[in-house]
Amino acid sequence: MLPFNIVPFTPAVAAGVFGLQLRDPLDPLTAATLRRALHQHGVLYFREQDLTEADQVRTSRIFGLPVRHPTSTLPPGPIREITAISNIDESGHPLGALGNDEIHYHADLCFLHTPGSFSTLYALETPATGGETTWIGLRAAFEALDDRWKERLQGLEVVYTHSRPEYNPIHPPAHPLVTTHPESGRRGLYFSPSHARQIAGIDEATSRALLDELSTIITQERFAWTLRWQTGDFVVWDNRCTMHRRASFPSTERRLLKRTQGQGRPSI
Ligand code: OGA
Ligand code: MN
Repeated sequence: MLPFNIVPFTPAVAAGVFGLQLRDPLDPLTAATLRRALHQHGVLYFREQDLTEADQVRTSRIFGLPVRHPTSTLPPGPIREITAISNIDESGHPLGALGNDEIHYHADLCFLHTPGSFSTLYALETPATGGETTWIGLRAAFEALDDRWKERLQGLEVVYTHSRPEYNPIHPPAHPLVTTHPESGRRGLYFSPSHARQIAGIDEATSRALLDELSTIITQERFAWTLRWQTGDFVVWDNRCTMHRRASFPSTERRLLKRTQGQGRPSI
């Protein structure tokens, strides 16, 4: 096994992995250690990486099955599992998705019946200001709720829809709010506030009030970790026990990240 360190950044979420270059193929024991660390910390951060698209896809396979992003509308490149997140538009041809506006808290692909498992981002160009990404650890946030809240949430299912109708399946999915993380066995929340339409069986106004109150409680600083992106940063996160948001950044700045998306259970 290669020598490297895994350093927790906060008790609630995220750890840094120092001493590994993901361009180099990893031995099975190192891969298994990283997979366990992702399931423990929810987010893993690697700095000063130098990755081709093939390296990013190979690394993604440590954490599960990378798929062609189900809602990507940009033409696929030679490596179909890679999409780009970018505000750069070179003469009418956007390099990637999501522009430069704020993106509110969400879990990737929550509006599908099979939501995102892991996601990865690799930073190629980063803005001098803004564009930070913040993750919330939803197991720590759940554990910190008082018993009254925990009882209130138990058994509830949230119906999710995307604001763009073409992304939605015919029947929107409802996912349990309180979940047991399949790999760590730890209880937590599965929640995507920006796509939550209502709690199944509860009217929209009552649902909204409850989910807004819950969002305020769980987005406290003590459950969060924020990354100010630098070129060469690589991050993998587990959407089944975290949610994330992105801060806006000036449209005059350039931001370009390559992305992979996992769906379903890990294959190895
Ligand atoms: C994503 C996402 C945030 C960012 O790729 O799923 O939410 O920082 N991106 O660009
Ligand atoms: Mn996202």
